[in-house]
Amino acid sequence: MTDSTSPAPSHKNNSVGTQNSQSDDTVIAQMCTLIDAIKTHNYAYYVLDNPKLEDSEYDQLRLSLIELEEAYPDLIQPDSPTNQVGDIPLSAFTQVVHDIPMLSLGNVFEYDDLREFMRRVNDRLSDAQQNPEYEMELKLDGLAVSLKYERGQLVQAVTRGDGRVGEDITQNTKTIRNLPLYLTDAKDLSLLEVRGEVLMPKAGFERLNRLAEENGEKVFANPRNAAAGSLRQLDPAVAASRPLAFYAYSVNQGLPETIDTQSVALAWLKDIGFSVSAVEVVDSPRAAQAYYESIIETRDELPFEIDGTVIKVNSLGLQQQLGFLSREPRWATAYKFPAETVMTRLNTIEWQVGRTGQLTPVGKLEPVKVGGVTVSNVTLHNFGEIQRLDVRAGDMVSVHRAGDVIPKVTRVWTDQRPEDSEPVTLPTNCPVCDSPVVLPDDEALARCTGGLFCPAQQQEALIHFVSRRAMDIDGLGERWLISFFEHGLVKTVADIYELHNHRDDLITYEKLGEKSVQNIIDAIEASKKTTLPRFIYALGIRGVGEGTAQNFAQQFGDLDSLMNADMEALIETPDVGTITAELTYEFFRAQHNIEVIDKLIKAGVHWDNVEQVAAGDLPLDGQTWVITGALDSMARDEAKAKLQALGAKVVGSVSAKTTALLAGDKAGSKLTKAEKLGVKVVSEDEFLGLVKS
Ligand code: IVH
Repeated sequence: MTDSTSPAPSHKNNSVGTQNSQSDDTVIAQMCTLIDAIKTHNYAYYVLDNPKLEDSEYDQLRLSLIELEEAYPDLIQPDSPTNQVGDIPLSAFTQVVHDIPMLSLGNVFEYDDLREFMRRVNDRLSDAQQNPEYEMELKLDGLAVSLKYERGQLVQAVTRGDGRVGEDITQNTKTIRNLPLYLTDAKDLSLLEVRGEVLMPKAGFERLNRLAEENGEKVFANPRNAAAGSLRQLDPAVAASRPLAFYAYSVNQGLPETIDTQSVALAWLKDIGFSVSAVEVVDSPRAAQAYYESIIETRDELPFEIDGTVIKVNSLGLQQQLGFLSREPRWATAYKFPAETVMTRLNTIEWQVGRTGQLTPVGKLEPVKVGGVTVSNVTLHNFGEIQRLDVRAGDMVSVHRAGDVIPKVTRVWTDQRPEDSEPVTLPTNCPVCDSPVVLPDDEALARCTGGLFCPAQQQEALIHFVSRRAMDIDGLGERWLISFFEHGLVKTVADIYELHNHRDDLITYEKLGEKSVQNIIDAIEASKKTTLPRFIYALGIRGVGEGTAQNFAQQFGDLDSLMNADMEALIETPDVGTITAELTYEFFRAQHNIEVIDKLIKAGVHWDNVEQVAAGDLPLDGQTWVITGALDSMARDEAKAKLQALGAKVVGSVSAKTTALLAGDKAGSKLTKAEKLGVKVVSEDEFLGLVKS
């Protein structure tokens, strides 16, 4: 294969003794389709460093082909790529035949498969050799390189290539900073061959791509492609500027005879100057599983990407005895992580309407397993993101989900786009209430202008109103609330306090028992006694979070004064800018809001007014505070509002001018700095004492 666009090679059934039945033709056709797809991908991946598929899809293609070939061995095509490791070497570099072929590893993905692998090993060992020790390593996601040292001197570095012949990349390899060019401890060895992985650490990869983007150059799809592209640079000076690293994983020639296990071989490599990855020796499938799981846990903290672990029979003697099957060792396999990036089709884009009318595009996916869970929705954030990604309904997309992170679309495969696809446009009208949609110049989010006329906004406003930090009506869960809303029992937040007049409806609609209904009504009753900051926050005024609500309460003392405040007075409130002031002003000028507030108060919602303190009389007046670390008793925003209410200014960084640092759990560099500058450090307990008094 030389060109991804060249016509597909013609595949014929030239196996001997196979009947050319209809079903054979179908199988051959399936094989050929898979072979062509794999070859196209191989070329894009190995030669162009520009993959056309996610790895998981590629693995799937290979697996499908292998399964077909296993089921129909007579029909295996002569040019099947399953018998080849990589791809033809690039002609720009000198080709080198490996002394010992560089082979590949099989894969397992689950504990059962791992045990099956161990069982197969046992099958080939004598009774005395059963259940051997295994050694586990990280599966580094880079590219394999073989290094030769003569009398301690690095003389040659070769890529894996097709496993038999690779490319001489000695010059470029010499620029890798953690790779020893001379090994004092191996100066007496006529030949030492070390194999390992060249990779690009995550930080360096991000820096490189940022620079490329700034300069309008091609960005790399992932660190491995970036490493491969860097090693294939014809100009070693360019390679030298790339942040590469080398990690050794085997000695293939020249290992001292006294060393007879893989774990000791790696320890030796480390001693003589190589970087090696985290290694552990295990003696049972359970211990192997524990290592695998511990690596999944710490994976994000590693400076480089890995795509699994590798498990190897530790004894080099047993490795020799077990040997190879086709292109893979019988004594090792990769125990890979579930794919974190997979491809799927994005069927449609729906617009969801939030509490304050913001329209969020949500991609509806063909359900797909990624990072171990099935994902069928993905947020596209806003219209700008849709334009940045250039995503359309019907596109194939890559979906990435790592750890607990919300899944996101990381790539759109525009080359696989259906011909009749249309660019996404912003809806002109709200999908829920049909009011016009606006996209203000200075905002990323489009909004429905329907306000509380829009059912979606009404519903979200209700959920916000009862939430823990607002009116805290714990007994009235979101599910009931939505159901009451859908049945028309509650439309505005004021209707919540009328629910006690609808006991029978509650019992009928939701088949709630008397007791549950009473609990709900009691919880609603209990919520009537609240605080002014909570009430202001519960109103759901755009831009008014808990901190601002607290500041308003402090500034105005009672609700009437806040409702009647003009713009000037609103802006005088600490931390309130023009936009929030305007939104608040408008909120209290809308008749339906005034009506709802009146009804709430008439229903019995009440609070104690906040005692206002004249400026200059607050206990923390003139002080500057910084908050760091995690607080147990409240969110940082809340702590900030409390400090501000006492007159303190709260800023983001510690300096000599800082009065005090409120330090929660896991405080880091800010604490160190405060200690260095002699700034007072206040614990959460001390702070609670302060805000209470
Ligand atoms: S040992 C006989 N150990 O994975 C093959 N390989 O899928 C022995 N790889 O070509 C390979 N980390 O590029 C081995 N700790 C590790 C590895 C590792 C990454 C790569 C290597 C190999 C590929 C096979």
